Amino acid sequence: MEKSAKKPVVMSGIRPTGILHLGSYFGALQNYIRMQDEYECYFMVADLHSLTTHPDTKSLRANVLHVISEHLACGLDPDKVALYCQSAIHETSELYFYLNTLAYKGELEKTTTFKDKARLQPQNINAALLTYPSLMAADILLHRALYVPVGKDQEQHLEMARNFATRFNHRYGEIFPGPLAFNFGAALVKVPALDGSGKMSKSENQNATLYLSDDDALIRKKVMKAKTDEGPKVPGTPMPDYIENLFHLLQLVSTTEVYEKFVTDYNQCSIRYGDLKKQLAENMVQFIAPIREKAIVIRNNESYMQEVMEKGAAKAGESAKKTMQLVRDAIGVKYF
Ligand code: TYM
Repeated sequence: MEKSAKKPVVMSGIRPTGILHLGSYFGALQNYIRMQDEYECYFMVADLHSLTTHPDTKSLRANVLHVISEHLACGLDPDKVALYCQSAIHETSELYFYLNTLAYKGELEKTTTFKDKARLQPQNINAALLTYPSLMAADILLHRALYVPVGKDQEQHLEMARNFATRFNHRYGEIFPGPLAFNFGAALVKVPALDGSGKMSKSENQNATLYLSDDDALIRKKVMKAKTDEGPKVPGTPMPDYIENLFHLLQLVSTTEVYEKFVTDYNQCSIRYGDLKKQLAENMVQFIAPIREKAIVIRNNESYMQEVMEKGAAKAGESAKKTMQLVRDAIGVKYF
């Protein structure tokens, strides 16, 4: 394939349905940053996807800018990667249409995220919500990407993107690599909510989610409110979910020594959860504060933000145009 001589292509995206949190960071952004030197990277803010659940666009622009500034504050270099907004690349919609001809109602209806969202918004089960996986596949296949750094919750969407790519290749000729969910060979990440109920999320569960823009006091408050109990009384007691989650979070932001000290305390039944939460809160503050402060400075520089988005769209647009030439040729929808 034409792209095989170059760096492998990487693509991923984040919806601007709210602002970024620890899950967005450890599920996606951390790998974006690790991959930016070795791969040809396309990272975008999925504003079209957000319309499937958030049709009111009053805060869309502000959210997009916020999310872009956080990508940059986390260390993404816009000279190395294409950082852009989904709606700026019109070819996405064209590929989305072709992929929709290869996506079947039955499989779309069975998608977990569709079923969840349909339950949450029974008054707005729109066609784009149903075909969300085809649009996501279009984002990825538009750059003929091989690796897609995402968290665990996106695994099913990636399987579907792979299926659509295979069906396209089978029907029209080999154009697309089968994209793979990527986490450097490790299992995909799921960052749990502080209250032990599911995952951290942009728009749900806000008190149990640590946002990259939370101030220090709020971070401490959220962590200190996390559910605990009296602690194990007998060595070998399995950890309840909500305690396991705290250990998981500790492992993300604290040193190995700190993490292991609390594991030992737990195993010896001498753990004091108040101390664990204080430690976790301080390490969270140390982790989040520099990102928050940097993002504010970046966001205030509007012309720079504009420049980054324009440059990203130009680079992504070039790649999209090349792929769509191949796609139109393969399908045979080119008459002059
Ligand atoms: P979104 O916006 O829900 O999430 C963005 C990224 O963050 C990851 N993530 C998490 N990872 C671990 N633990 C969590 N608690 C957590 N919460 C979020 C997600 O797995 C994701 O990697 N459909 C996508 C957006 C999208 C996309 C794409 C992704 C649109 N087009 C093309 C990849 C490729 C979504 O809704 O992500």
